[in-house]
Amino acid sequence: MIERYSAKIAGTGRYLPDKVMTNQDLEKIVDTSDEWIKTRTGMSERRVASEEQASSDMALEAALQAIDHAGLRPKDIDLIIVGTISPDHAFPSTACIVQNKLGIKHVPAFDISAGCPGWIYASNIAKQYVENGIAKNVLTIGVELLTKILNYEDRGTCVLFGDGAGATVISRAESSDISRIIDSDITADGTYWDLLIQPAGGSRMPASHETVDAKKHTVYMDGNRIFKLAVRSMYDSCDKVLKRNNMDISSIDWLLTHQANLRIIDALGRKLKIDPNKVIINIEKYANTSSATIPIALDEAIRNGKIRRGDIVLMSSFGAGLTSGSILIRY
Ligand code: UT7
Repeated sequence: MIERYSAKIAGTGRYLPDKVMTNQDLEKIVDTSDEWIKTRTGMSERRVASEEQASSDMALEAALQAIDHAGLRPKDIDLIIVGTISPDHAFPSTACIVQNKLGIKHVPAFDISAGCPGWIYASNIAKQYVENGIAKNVLTIGVELLTKILNYEDRGTCVLFGDGAGATVISRAESSDISRIIDSDITADGTYWDLLIQPAGGSRMPASHETVDAKKHTVYMDGNRIFKLAVRSMYDSCDKVLKRNNMDISSIDWLLTHQANLRIIDALGRKLKIDPNKVIINIEKYANTSSATIPIALDEAIRNGKIRRGDIVLMSSFGAGLTSGSILIRY
């Protein structure tokens, strides 16, 4: 492909609901323990949205921050892509609802259903639009409100997830800009489509009294099998992106991966042979917010001064599909 322009991350934002649910809170509703959750996952607490909130409400807050951080106004956004597996509705897209809340019209807006790499998929697409000159400022959002679709009788899933939103503005980079999206890779292996799934509510299993009674509208996951595939898929994606840019792990200032399990993050870090001090982790505070984990942690690390202008950051994720992908940036 001929790239006419370069793309960069121009602004970031995040939103986490105020309500905190600790491991101790979970001990009261399901047969689990703080000790099990901490040692098996690294999680201590997670955020839970209010009854009134929907994904678009959280996405809006993160989006407004990211647009402001980029020095822009909502009217400057010319494409909106939302990565989510917990949209406000099956249709229309959450992106169209966010567009309306931002008070803008007549720009394309759509959702990406790519599981946890939803923000990586969205940003990969945004990069193409910016590089070919079709768009100048793309809003990409990872947002999840999974606590409303968890089965609080299934301890294998309900302790793992939390709510939140992260947003970025991906803009055309000027030639004087040091910031760049250097490269991005996305892929999927549909062989494993049923390992992480919300079984009912679509055309395969429409909503009925029976599906509701059987809790088929909640998250089902074969955690063990996904665990084994996670490290391999993220490693392959990181390796591919590094190699095709003639870089190795010593070129990376920060590794920021999907926050699904501390043991997965550690195993990937060891396999990539990266200094553990260069790995960004916030899983203890927010647990797994699916497509929002990376943009939330990116915003947090930029705003607390950890990631600085010019730093090389490698981000990687995997999830329902099974999907995986990476983005390599110079911030
Ligand atoms: O972001 C989307 C992608 N998802 C993931 O990346 C998740 C990947 N998978 C994982 O992170 C891990 O597989 C889990 C955290 C889901 C589970 O950890 P594990 O070390 O693989 O545990 P396990 O499923 O092998 O279960 C071990 C034991 C079982 O008991 P028995 O059969 O050995 O008596 C489970 O019933 O732990 C039990 N267990 C729990 N105990 C207390 C499972 N969940 C819990 C729990 N509290 N919440």
